[in-house]
Amino acid sequence: MAETATAAPATAEDYDPFRPDFYTSDPFGVYRRLRNEAPVAYNERWGWWVLTRFEDVRAAALDADTFRSFEGMDIDDSRLEQVPPGSIGSMDNPRHDQVRSVVQPYFLPRRIAQLEDGIRAVVRDLVGSWRDRAAGGRATVDLAQELAWPMPFDVFFHLMGLPSRHADDPLDRARREQLEHWTHELKDRVPGTPHLTPVARAATAGVQQFFIDLLEDRRRAARDDLVTAFVEADIDGVPFVDAQVTPNSEVSGLMMILFLGGVESTAGLTGTLFRLLAENPDQRALLQADPSLIPAAVEEAMRLITPLQLTARTTSREVTLHGVTIPAGGRVVLVMGAANRDERQFPDPDRFDITRPRGRHLGFGEGVHGCLGAPLARLEARIALEEALPVLGDYEPAGPPTFYPSSPNMYVWKNLPVTFGRTARRPHVEAVSHRTTTVTLTTAEFEAEARVAAKREVADGVVALTLRDAGDRPLPAWEPGAHVDLVLDGTPTRQYSLCGDPADHSEYRLGVLRDPDGRGSSLFVHDRLQAGDTVRVRGPRNNFPLVDSPRYLFIAGGIGITPILAMIRAAEAAGADWRLVYGGRHRASMAFLDELAVYGDRVSVRPQDETGLLDLEALLGTPQPDTLVYCCGPEPLLAAVEEHCGGWPRGALHVERFAPRPQGEPARTESFEVELARSELTLTVPPDRSILSVVEEAGVGVLSSCAEGTCGTCETAVLGGVPDHRDSVLGPDEREANDCMMICVSRSSGPRLVLDL
Ligand code: FES
Repeated sequence: MAETATAAPATAEDYDPFRPDFYTSDPFGVYRRLRNEAPVAYNERWGWWVLTRFEDVRAAALDADTFRSFEGMDIDDSRLEQVPPGSIGSMDNPRHDQVRSVVQPYFLPRRIAQLEDGIRAVVRDLVGSWRDRAAGGRATVDLAQELAWPMPFDVFFHLMGLPSRHADDPLDRARREQLEHWTHELKDRVPGTPHLTPVARAATAGVQQFFIDLLEDRRRAARDDLVTAFVEADIDGVPFVDAQVTPNSEVSGLMMILFLGGVESTAGLTGTLFRLLAENPDQRALLQADPSLIPAAVEEAMRLITPLQLTARTTSREVTLHGVTIPAGGRVVLVMGAANRDERQFPDPDRFDITRPRGRHLGFGEGVHGCLGAPLARLEARIALEEALPVLGDYEPAGPPTFYPSSPNMYVWKNLPVTFGRTARRPHVEAVSHRTTTVTLTTAEFEAEARVAAKREVADGVVALTLRDAGDRPLPAWEPGAHVDLVLDGTPTRQYSLCGDPADHSEYRLGVLRDPDGRGSSLFVHDRLQAGDTVRVRGPRNNFPLVDSPRYLFIAGGIGITPILAMIRAAEAAGADWRLVYGGRHRASMAFLDELAVYGDRVSVRPQDETGLLDLEALLGTPQPDTLVYCCGPEPLLAAVEEHCGGWPRGALHVERFAPRPQGEPARTESFEVELARSELTLTVPPDRSILSVVEEAGVGVLSSCAEGTCGTCETAVLGGVPDHRDSVLGPDEREANDCMMICVSRSSGPRLVLDL
């Protein structure tokens, strides 16, 4: 979300959560200014005092004698009609605690933990078909509509003893669908006002009657569920449920709060969590590498984008805070969404950082009205991540999300489309904020200090480096074919394929060939880098993914064996039929022969001084059915393999280049324009400069690494115009699609390109 700077002092008038675009414009910028310039601000239009600092919000939430709840916790008319006076959200003590004691035992962490299997079954049911959907490549899923919303719905139905979405009885299914429908209609507001529309009123009446009928049903026939527990409960010998339940009964308000809190807040938390992980692939990589961070990720999402952004209180006495006096009877809005980003409490508060030291946040409220369902929300979010993340892998946003048109206190997503499945390329620039020169590019990718745990000569002129995180944390997950950037002081950054075991998150292994004609990094590794030294690694990325196939032919030349090593391990594990032909100048220069020996005659070792050049005609002259060819090695080998595969089916050959593919003359020799759509800039790229350098000079941040079109880091989406692809990353189909390009080397075929920057 863009944050706008303005010189005018903040006032509470800036804070208007009734405004339809308030939460989609820049609420966090408004919060920041209020915290810093007007921590107790009076909004004349709505007659509220607004508290935004962490300590103030927390102190007010804890001081239930001064900041009372009898006028409701909402700021719109739902406090009168949906959670009416006399229900638990509008109650002060002692009655609040008495009513809460009826339901509290069912939400104790120990009791909630018993729901784990049921919740996991719900999530597996929702996620189950996604993997099949992505069987043919990338697929799309709406994480809001297909997980974040239906999961808490199903869990709520389970808790209340209601039929599941697979109920046999069509009447049960219809009632359930009706309740889902009403849930969304409950949120219909007259735009810009606190008023419910007639649609919302009708839905409110429908939900209330649904609960009343349910209570009556359980009164007639008890079951082992929460509703029966309400019916049978008493408070000091007085039945909790009235003989004649009405929408204004305490139990009606309690059920509405459980319903709204249980479904909408959890949908908000779950959607936000997955969205933040899509936008922060570095954090997602940490989570994928170390699932024990999942609870921390849930808390961090809850802090950063709190589903329940605010709650309201009424003062029982005059209160003076930061020099501002709030009279007795004043309506006060406690903005938890602002408090949770208070820089006085949280360093770098706007950053999503799942390794942030655990600290108290106000995402679940505090004090007597602290969230009853917090253990359940945490459990649901955790299970959603545990079950969905392995299926989604490195998922990416697939278009703009849409915001749920909710009541003014909620931050919830309605649609969150993402693409997932086996990916040809990782996203690289999605987290970069443009329009500023002070972007922190490293937030878009994992980058860490790594210690050289071992350096071993594995062939003449080849060393294997074993790298471990300097803090001994797990390293991000990777798949065969992936590479990392090795960032060394004083030499250009170079990319090296990962050749260790992808299942081992404790270390990366790289093979490095000494290249006297290179740009210096391999000489640095060979001559200066020692075990115990530290380097930086960035990535991993994968431009050379192993696509599922029953049969593979791997061809490696020299140091090109490194990505192939991990591939043959994966092919073997998958039970595929594979063979490797490995060429080199002479046997002593060929790395990892000892590791390859275990595969027996699946591997053909062909030193040139013993067996001559590889017989590519024999290997590739006749296309093999259902076979994919993977080749990595020096440019002459790649060019020859490409030529021999001319008759193979399109898509059968996969190559990876360590050096740029030779390019012909550019399609256009004159300068051309690039329009940067998000930055609203139009720049001229002269013939002697790259798009990347022109864009960077204009202050627009783009990640880049190799600057020669081989690593894929600078990949940029193309919105208009036709690129002149001059990289060594994209395959023929990807080039023809013309929807992305490597701006470090590729240019424009025409006078103008439009880029998503
Ligand atoms: Fe490596 Fe552009 S920076 S492809």
